[in-house]
Amino acid sequence: MAATASTTPSSFIFRKTPKNQSFLKPESISVALTANRLAKPISLSCSATAASATQIQDRPPIQNQSQDRVFNFAAGPATLPENVLLKAQSELYNWRGSGMSVMEMSHRGKEFTSIIQKAEADLRALLKIPEDYAVLFLQGGATSQFAAIPLNLCQADDTVDCLVTGSWGDKAFKEAQKYCKPKVIWSGKSEKYVRIPAFDGLEQSPDAKYLHICANETIHGVEFKDYPVPKNGLLIADMSSNFCSKPVDVSKFGLIYAGAQKNVGPSGVTIVIVRKDVIGNARDITPVMFDYKIHAENNSLYNTPPCYGIYVCGLVFEDLLAQGGLEEVEKRNKKKAELLYNAIDESKGFYRCPVEKSVRSLMNVPFTLEKSELEAEFIKEAAKEKMVQLKGHRSVGGMRASIYNAMPLAGVEKLVAFMKDFQARHA
Ligand SMILES: Cc1ncc(COP(=O)(O)O)c(C=O)c1O
Repeated sequence: MAATASTTPSSFIFRKTPKNQSFLKPESISVALTANRLAKPISLSCSATAASATQIQDRPPIQNQSQDRVFNFAAGPATLPENVLLKAQSELYNWRGSGMSVMEMSHRGKEFTSIIQKAEADLRALLKIPEDYAVLFLQGGATSQFAAIPLNLCQADDTVDCLVTGSWGDKAFKEAQKYCKPKVIWSGKSEKYVRIPAFDGLEQSPDAKYLHICANETIHGVEFKDYPVPKNGLLIADMSSNFCSKPVDVSKFGLIYAGAQKNVGPSGVTIVIVRKDVIGNARDITPVMFDYKIHAENNSLYNTPPCYGIYVCGLVFEDLLAQGGLEEVEKRNKKKAELLYNAIDESKGFYRCPVEKSVRSLMNVPFTLEKSELEAEFIKEAAKEKMVQLKGHRSVGGMRASIYNAMPLAGVEKLVAFMKDFQARHA
């Protein structure tokens, strides 16, 4: 990056980079953390350290990202909190004196029982999930839920409404066509998914069993800031890419589902939060692995669950609570998103975000370059500066910065500084 970067508001400066360890033995973690706090700043340092550092209560804040790590703007699997990774590393070999790794434990043993129970309790505390909702830790990704939801909640002839604000909502609609009669009551496809319609103009089916939305469209960067009220039936939301990024009134929904691999853990865990009174109506043909009743009755332990993934999700929930809960998390996410959107909007058209301002995602920020021929260069140069995975989804092109909970403010500041510098050199 050119020296002009130091003139940016976030005060990026060049520093000599000390060599750092690339692998930490469990016993060296606390030493490494201390060293990390005391070490000189990494190759690009910035003012936003303490405020953005994620913390787990029992360990000191990490102020600088280890120099071995990149700022990963991937849409998912995505960046995880450094604290969580280090804690998982320190417990990997021997979980809390049990003499074994979480990966080696029986899913029915007392150790894993305590892990899954704590993960659920912490998630309930974070989202203030009412007692009359079940929390399920499943497998199969959010994609499996596209089928599981109609199989559990309706018969073949039932109508369901779909509000399609992006590719994921469209995929959910298409999968539901195999199991019931979904109706698209609005689609943003012809406008390339850049907005969400006013709810009062929606023509909802009077007999719909549910209204399905994708709360945050990961590819197009369109996010619901408020939710439609179904005329009939339940509101169902795919929250895969904004799960636990802000407070949500769970009681407005019949069912919320999310793949973990964006905001709360590794891939392989799918979380379903479902109102208990709608469980138990699965169609006869429903595979046992898709039947919410089976999983709810067995506390997500009907078969072998994704134990290690659930454990990491639990560490993330603990970390989010230690940060002050989702109100605090949302404040940080807003700050990061504002910084990035402002940089785009103030670039005099050099960068452009196509999404209507009122529904821009706090998590996934798509943008294009006025001179599209420079996009490959932008991505290449950013990668050299250790900012990776900025390429937009193959279906839309351009760039996309996913700035989930675990992306530190410092990462967004570094990206913004880079964008300004890139513009100065190519405008
Ligand atoms: C909003 C949304 N829904 C569903 C999916 C599919 O998730 P999975 O790969 O876990 O099936 C994704 C994946 O990126 C997504 O972003």
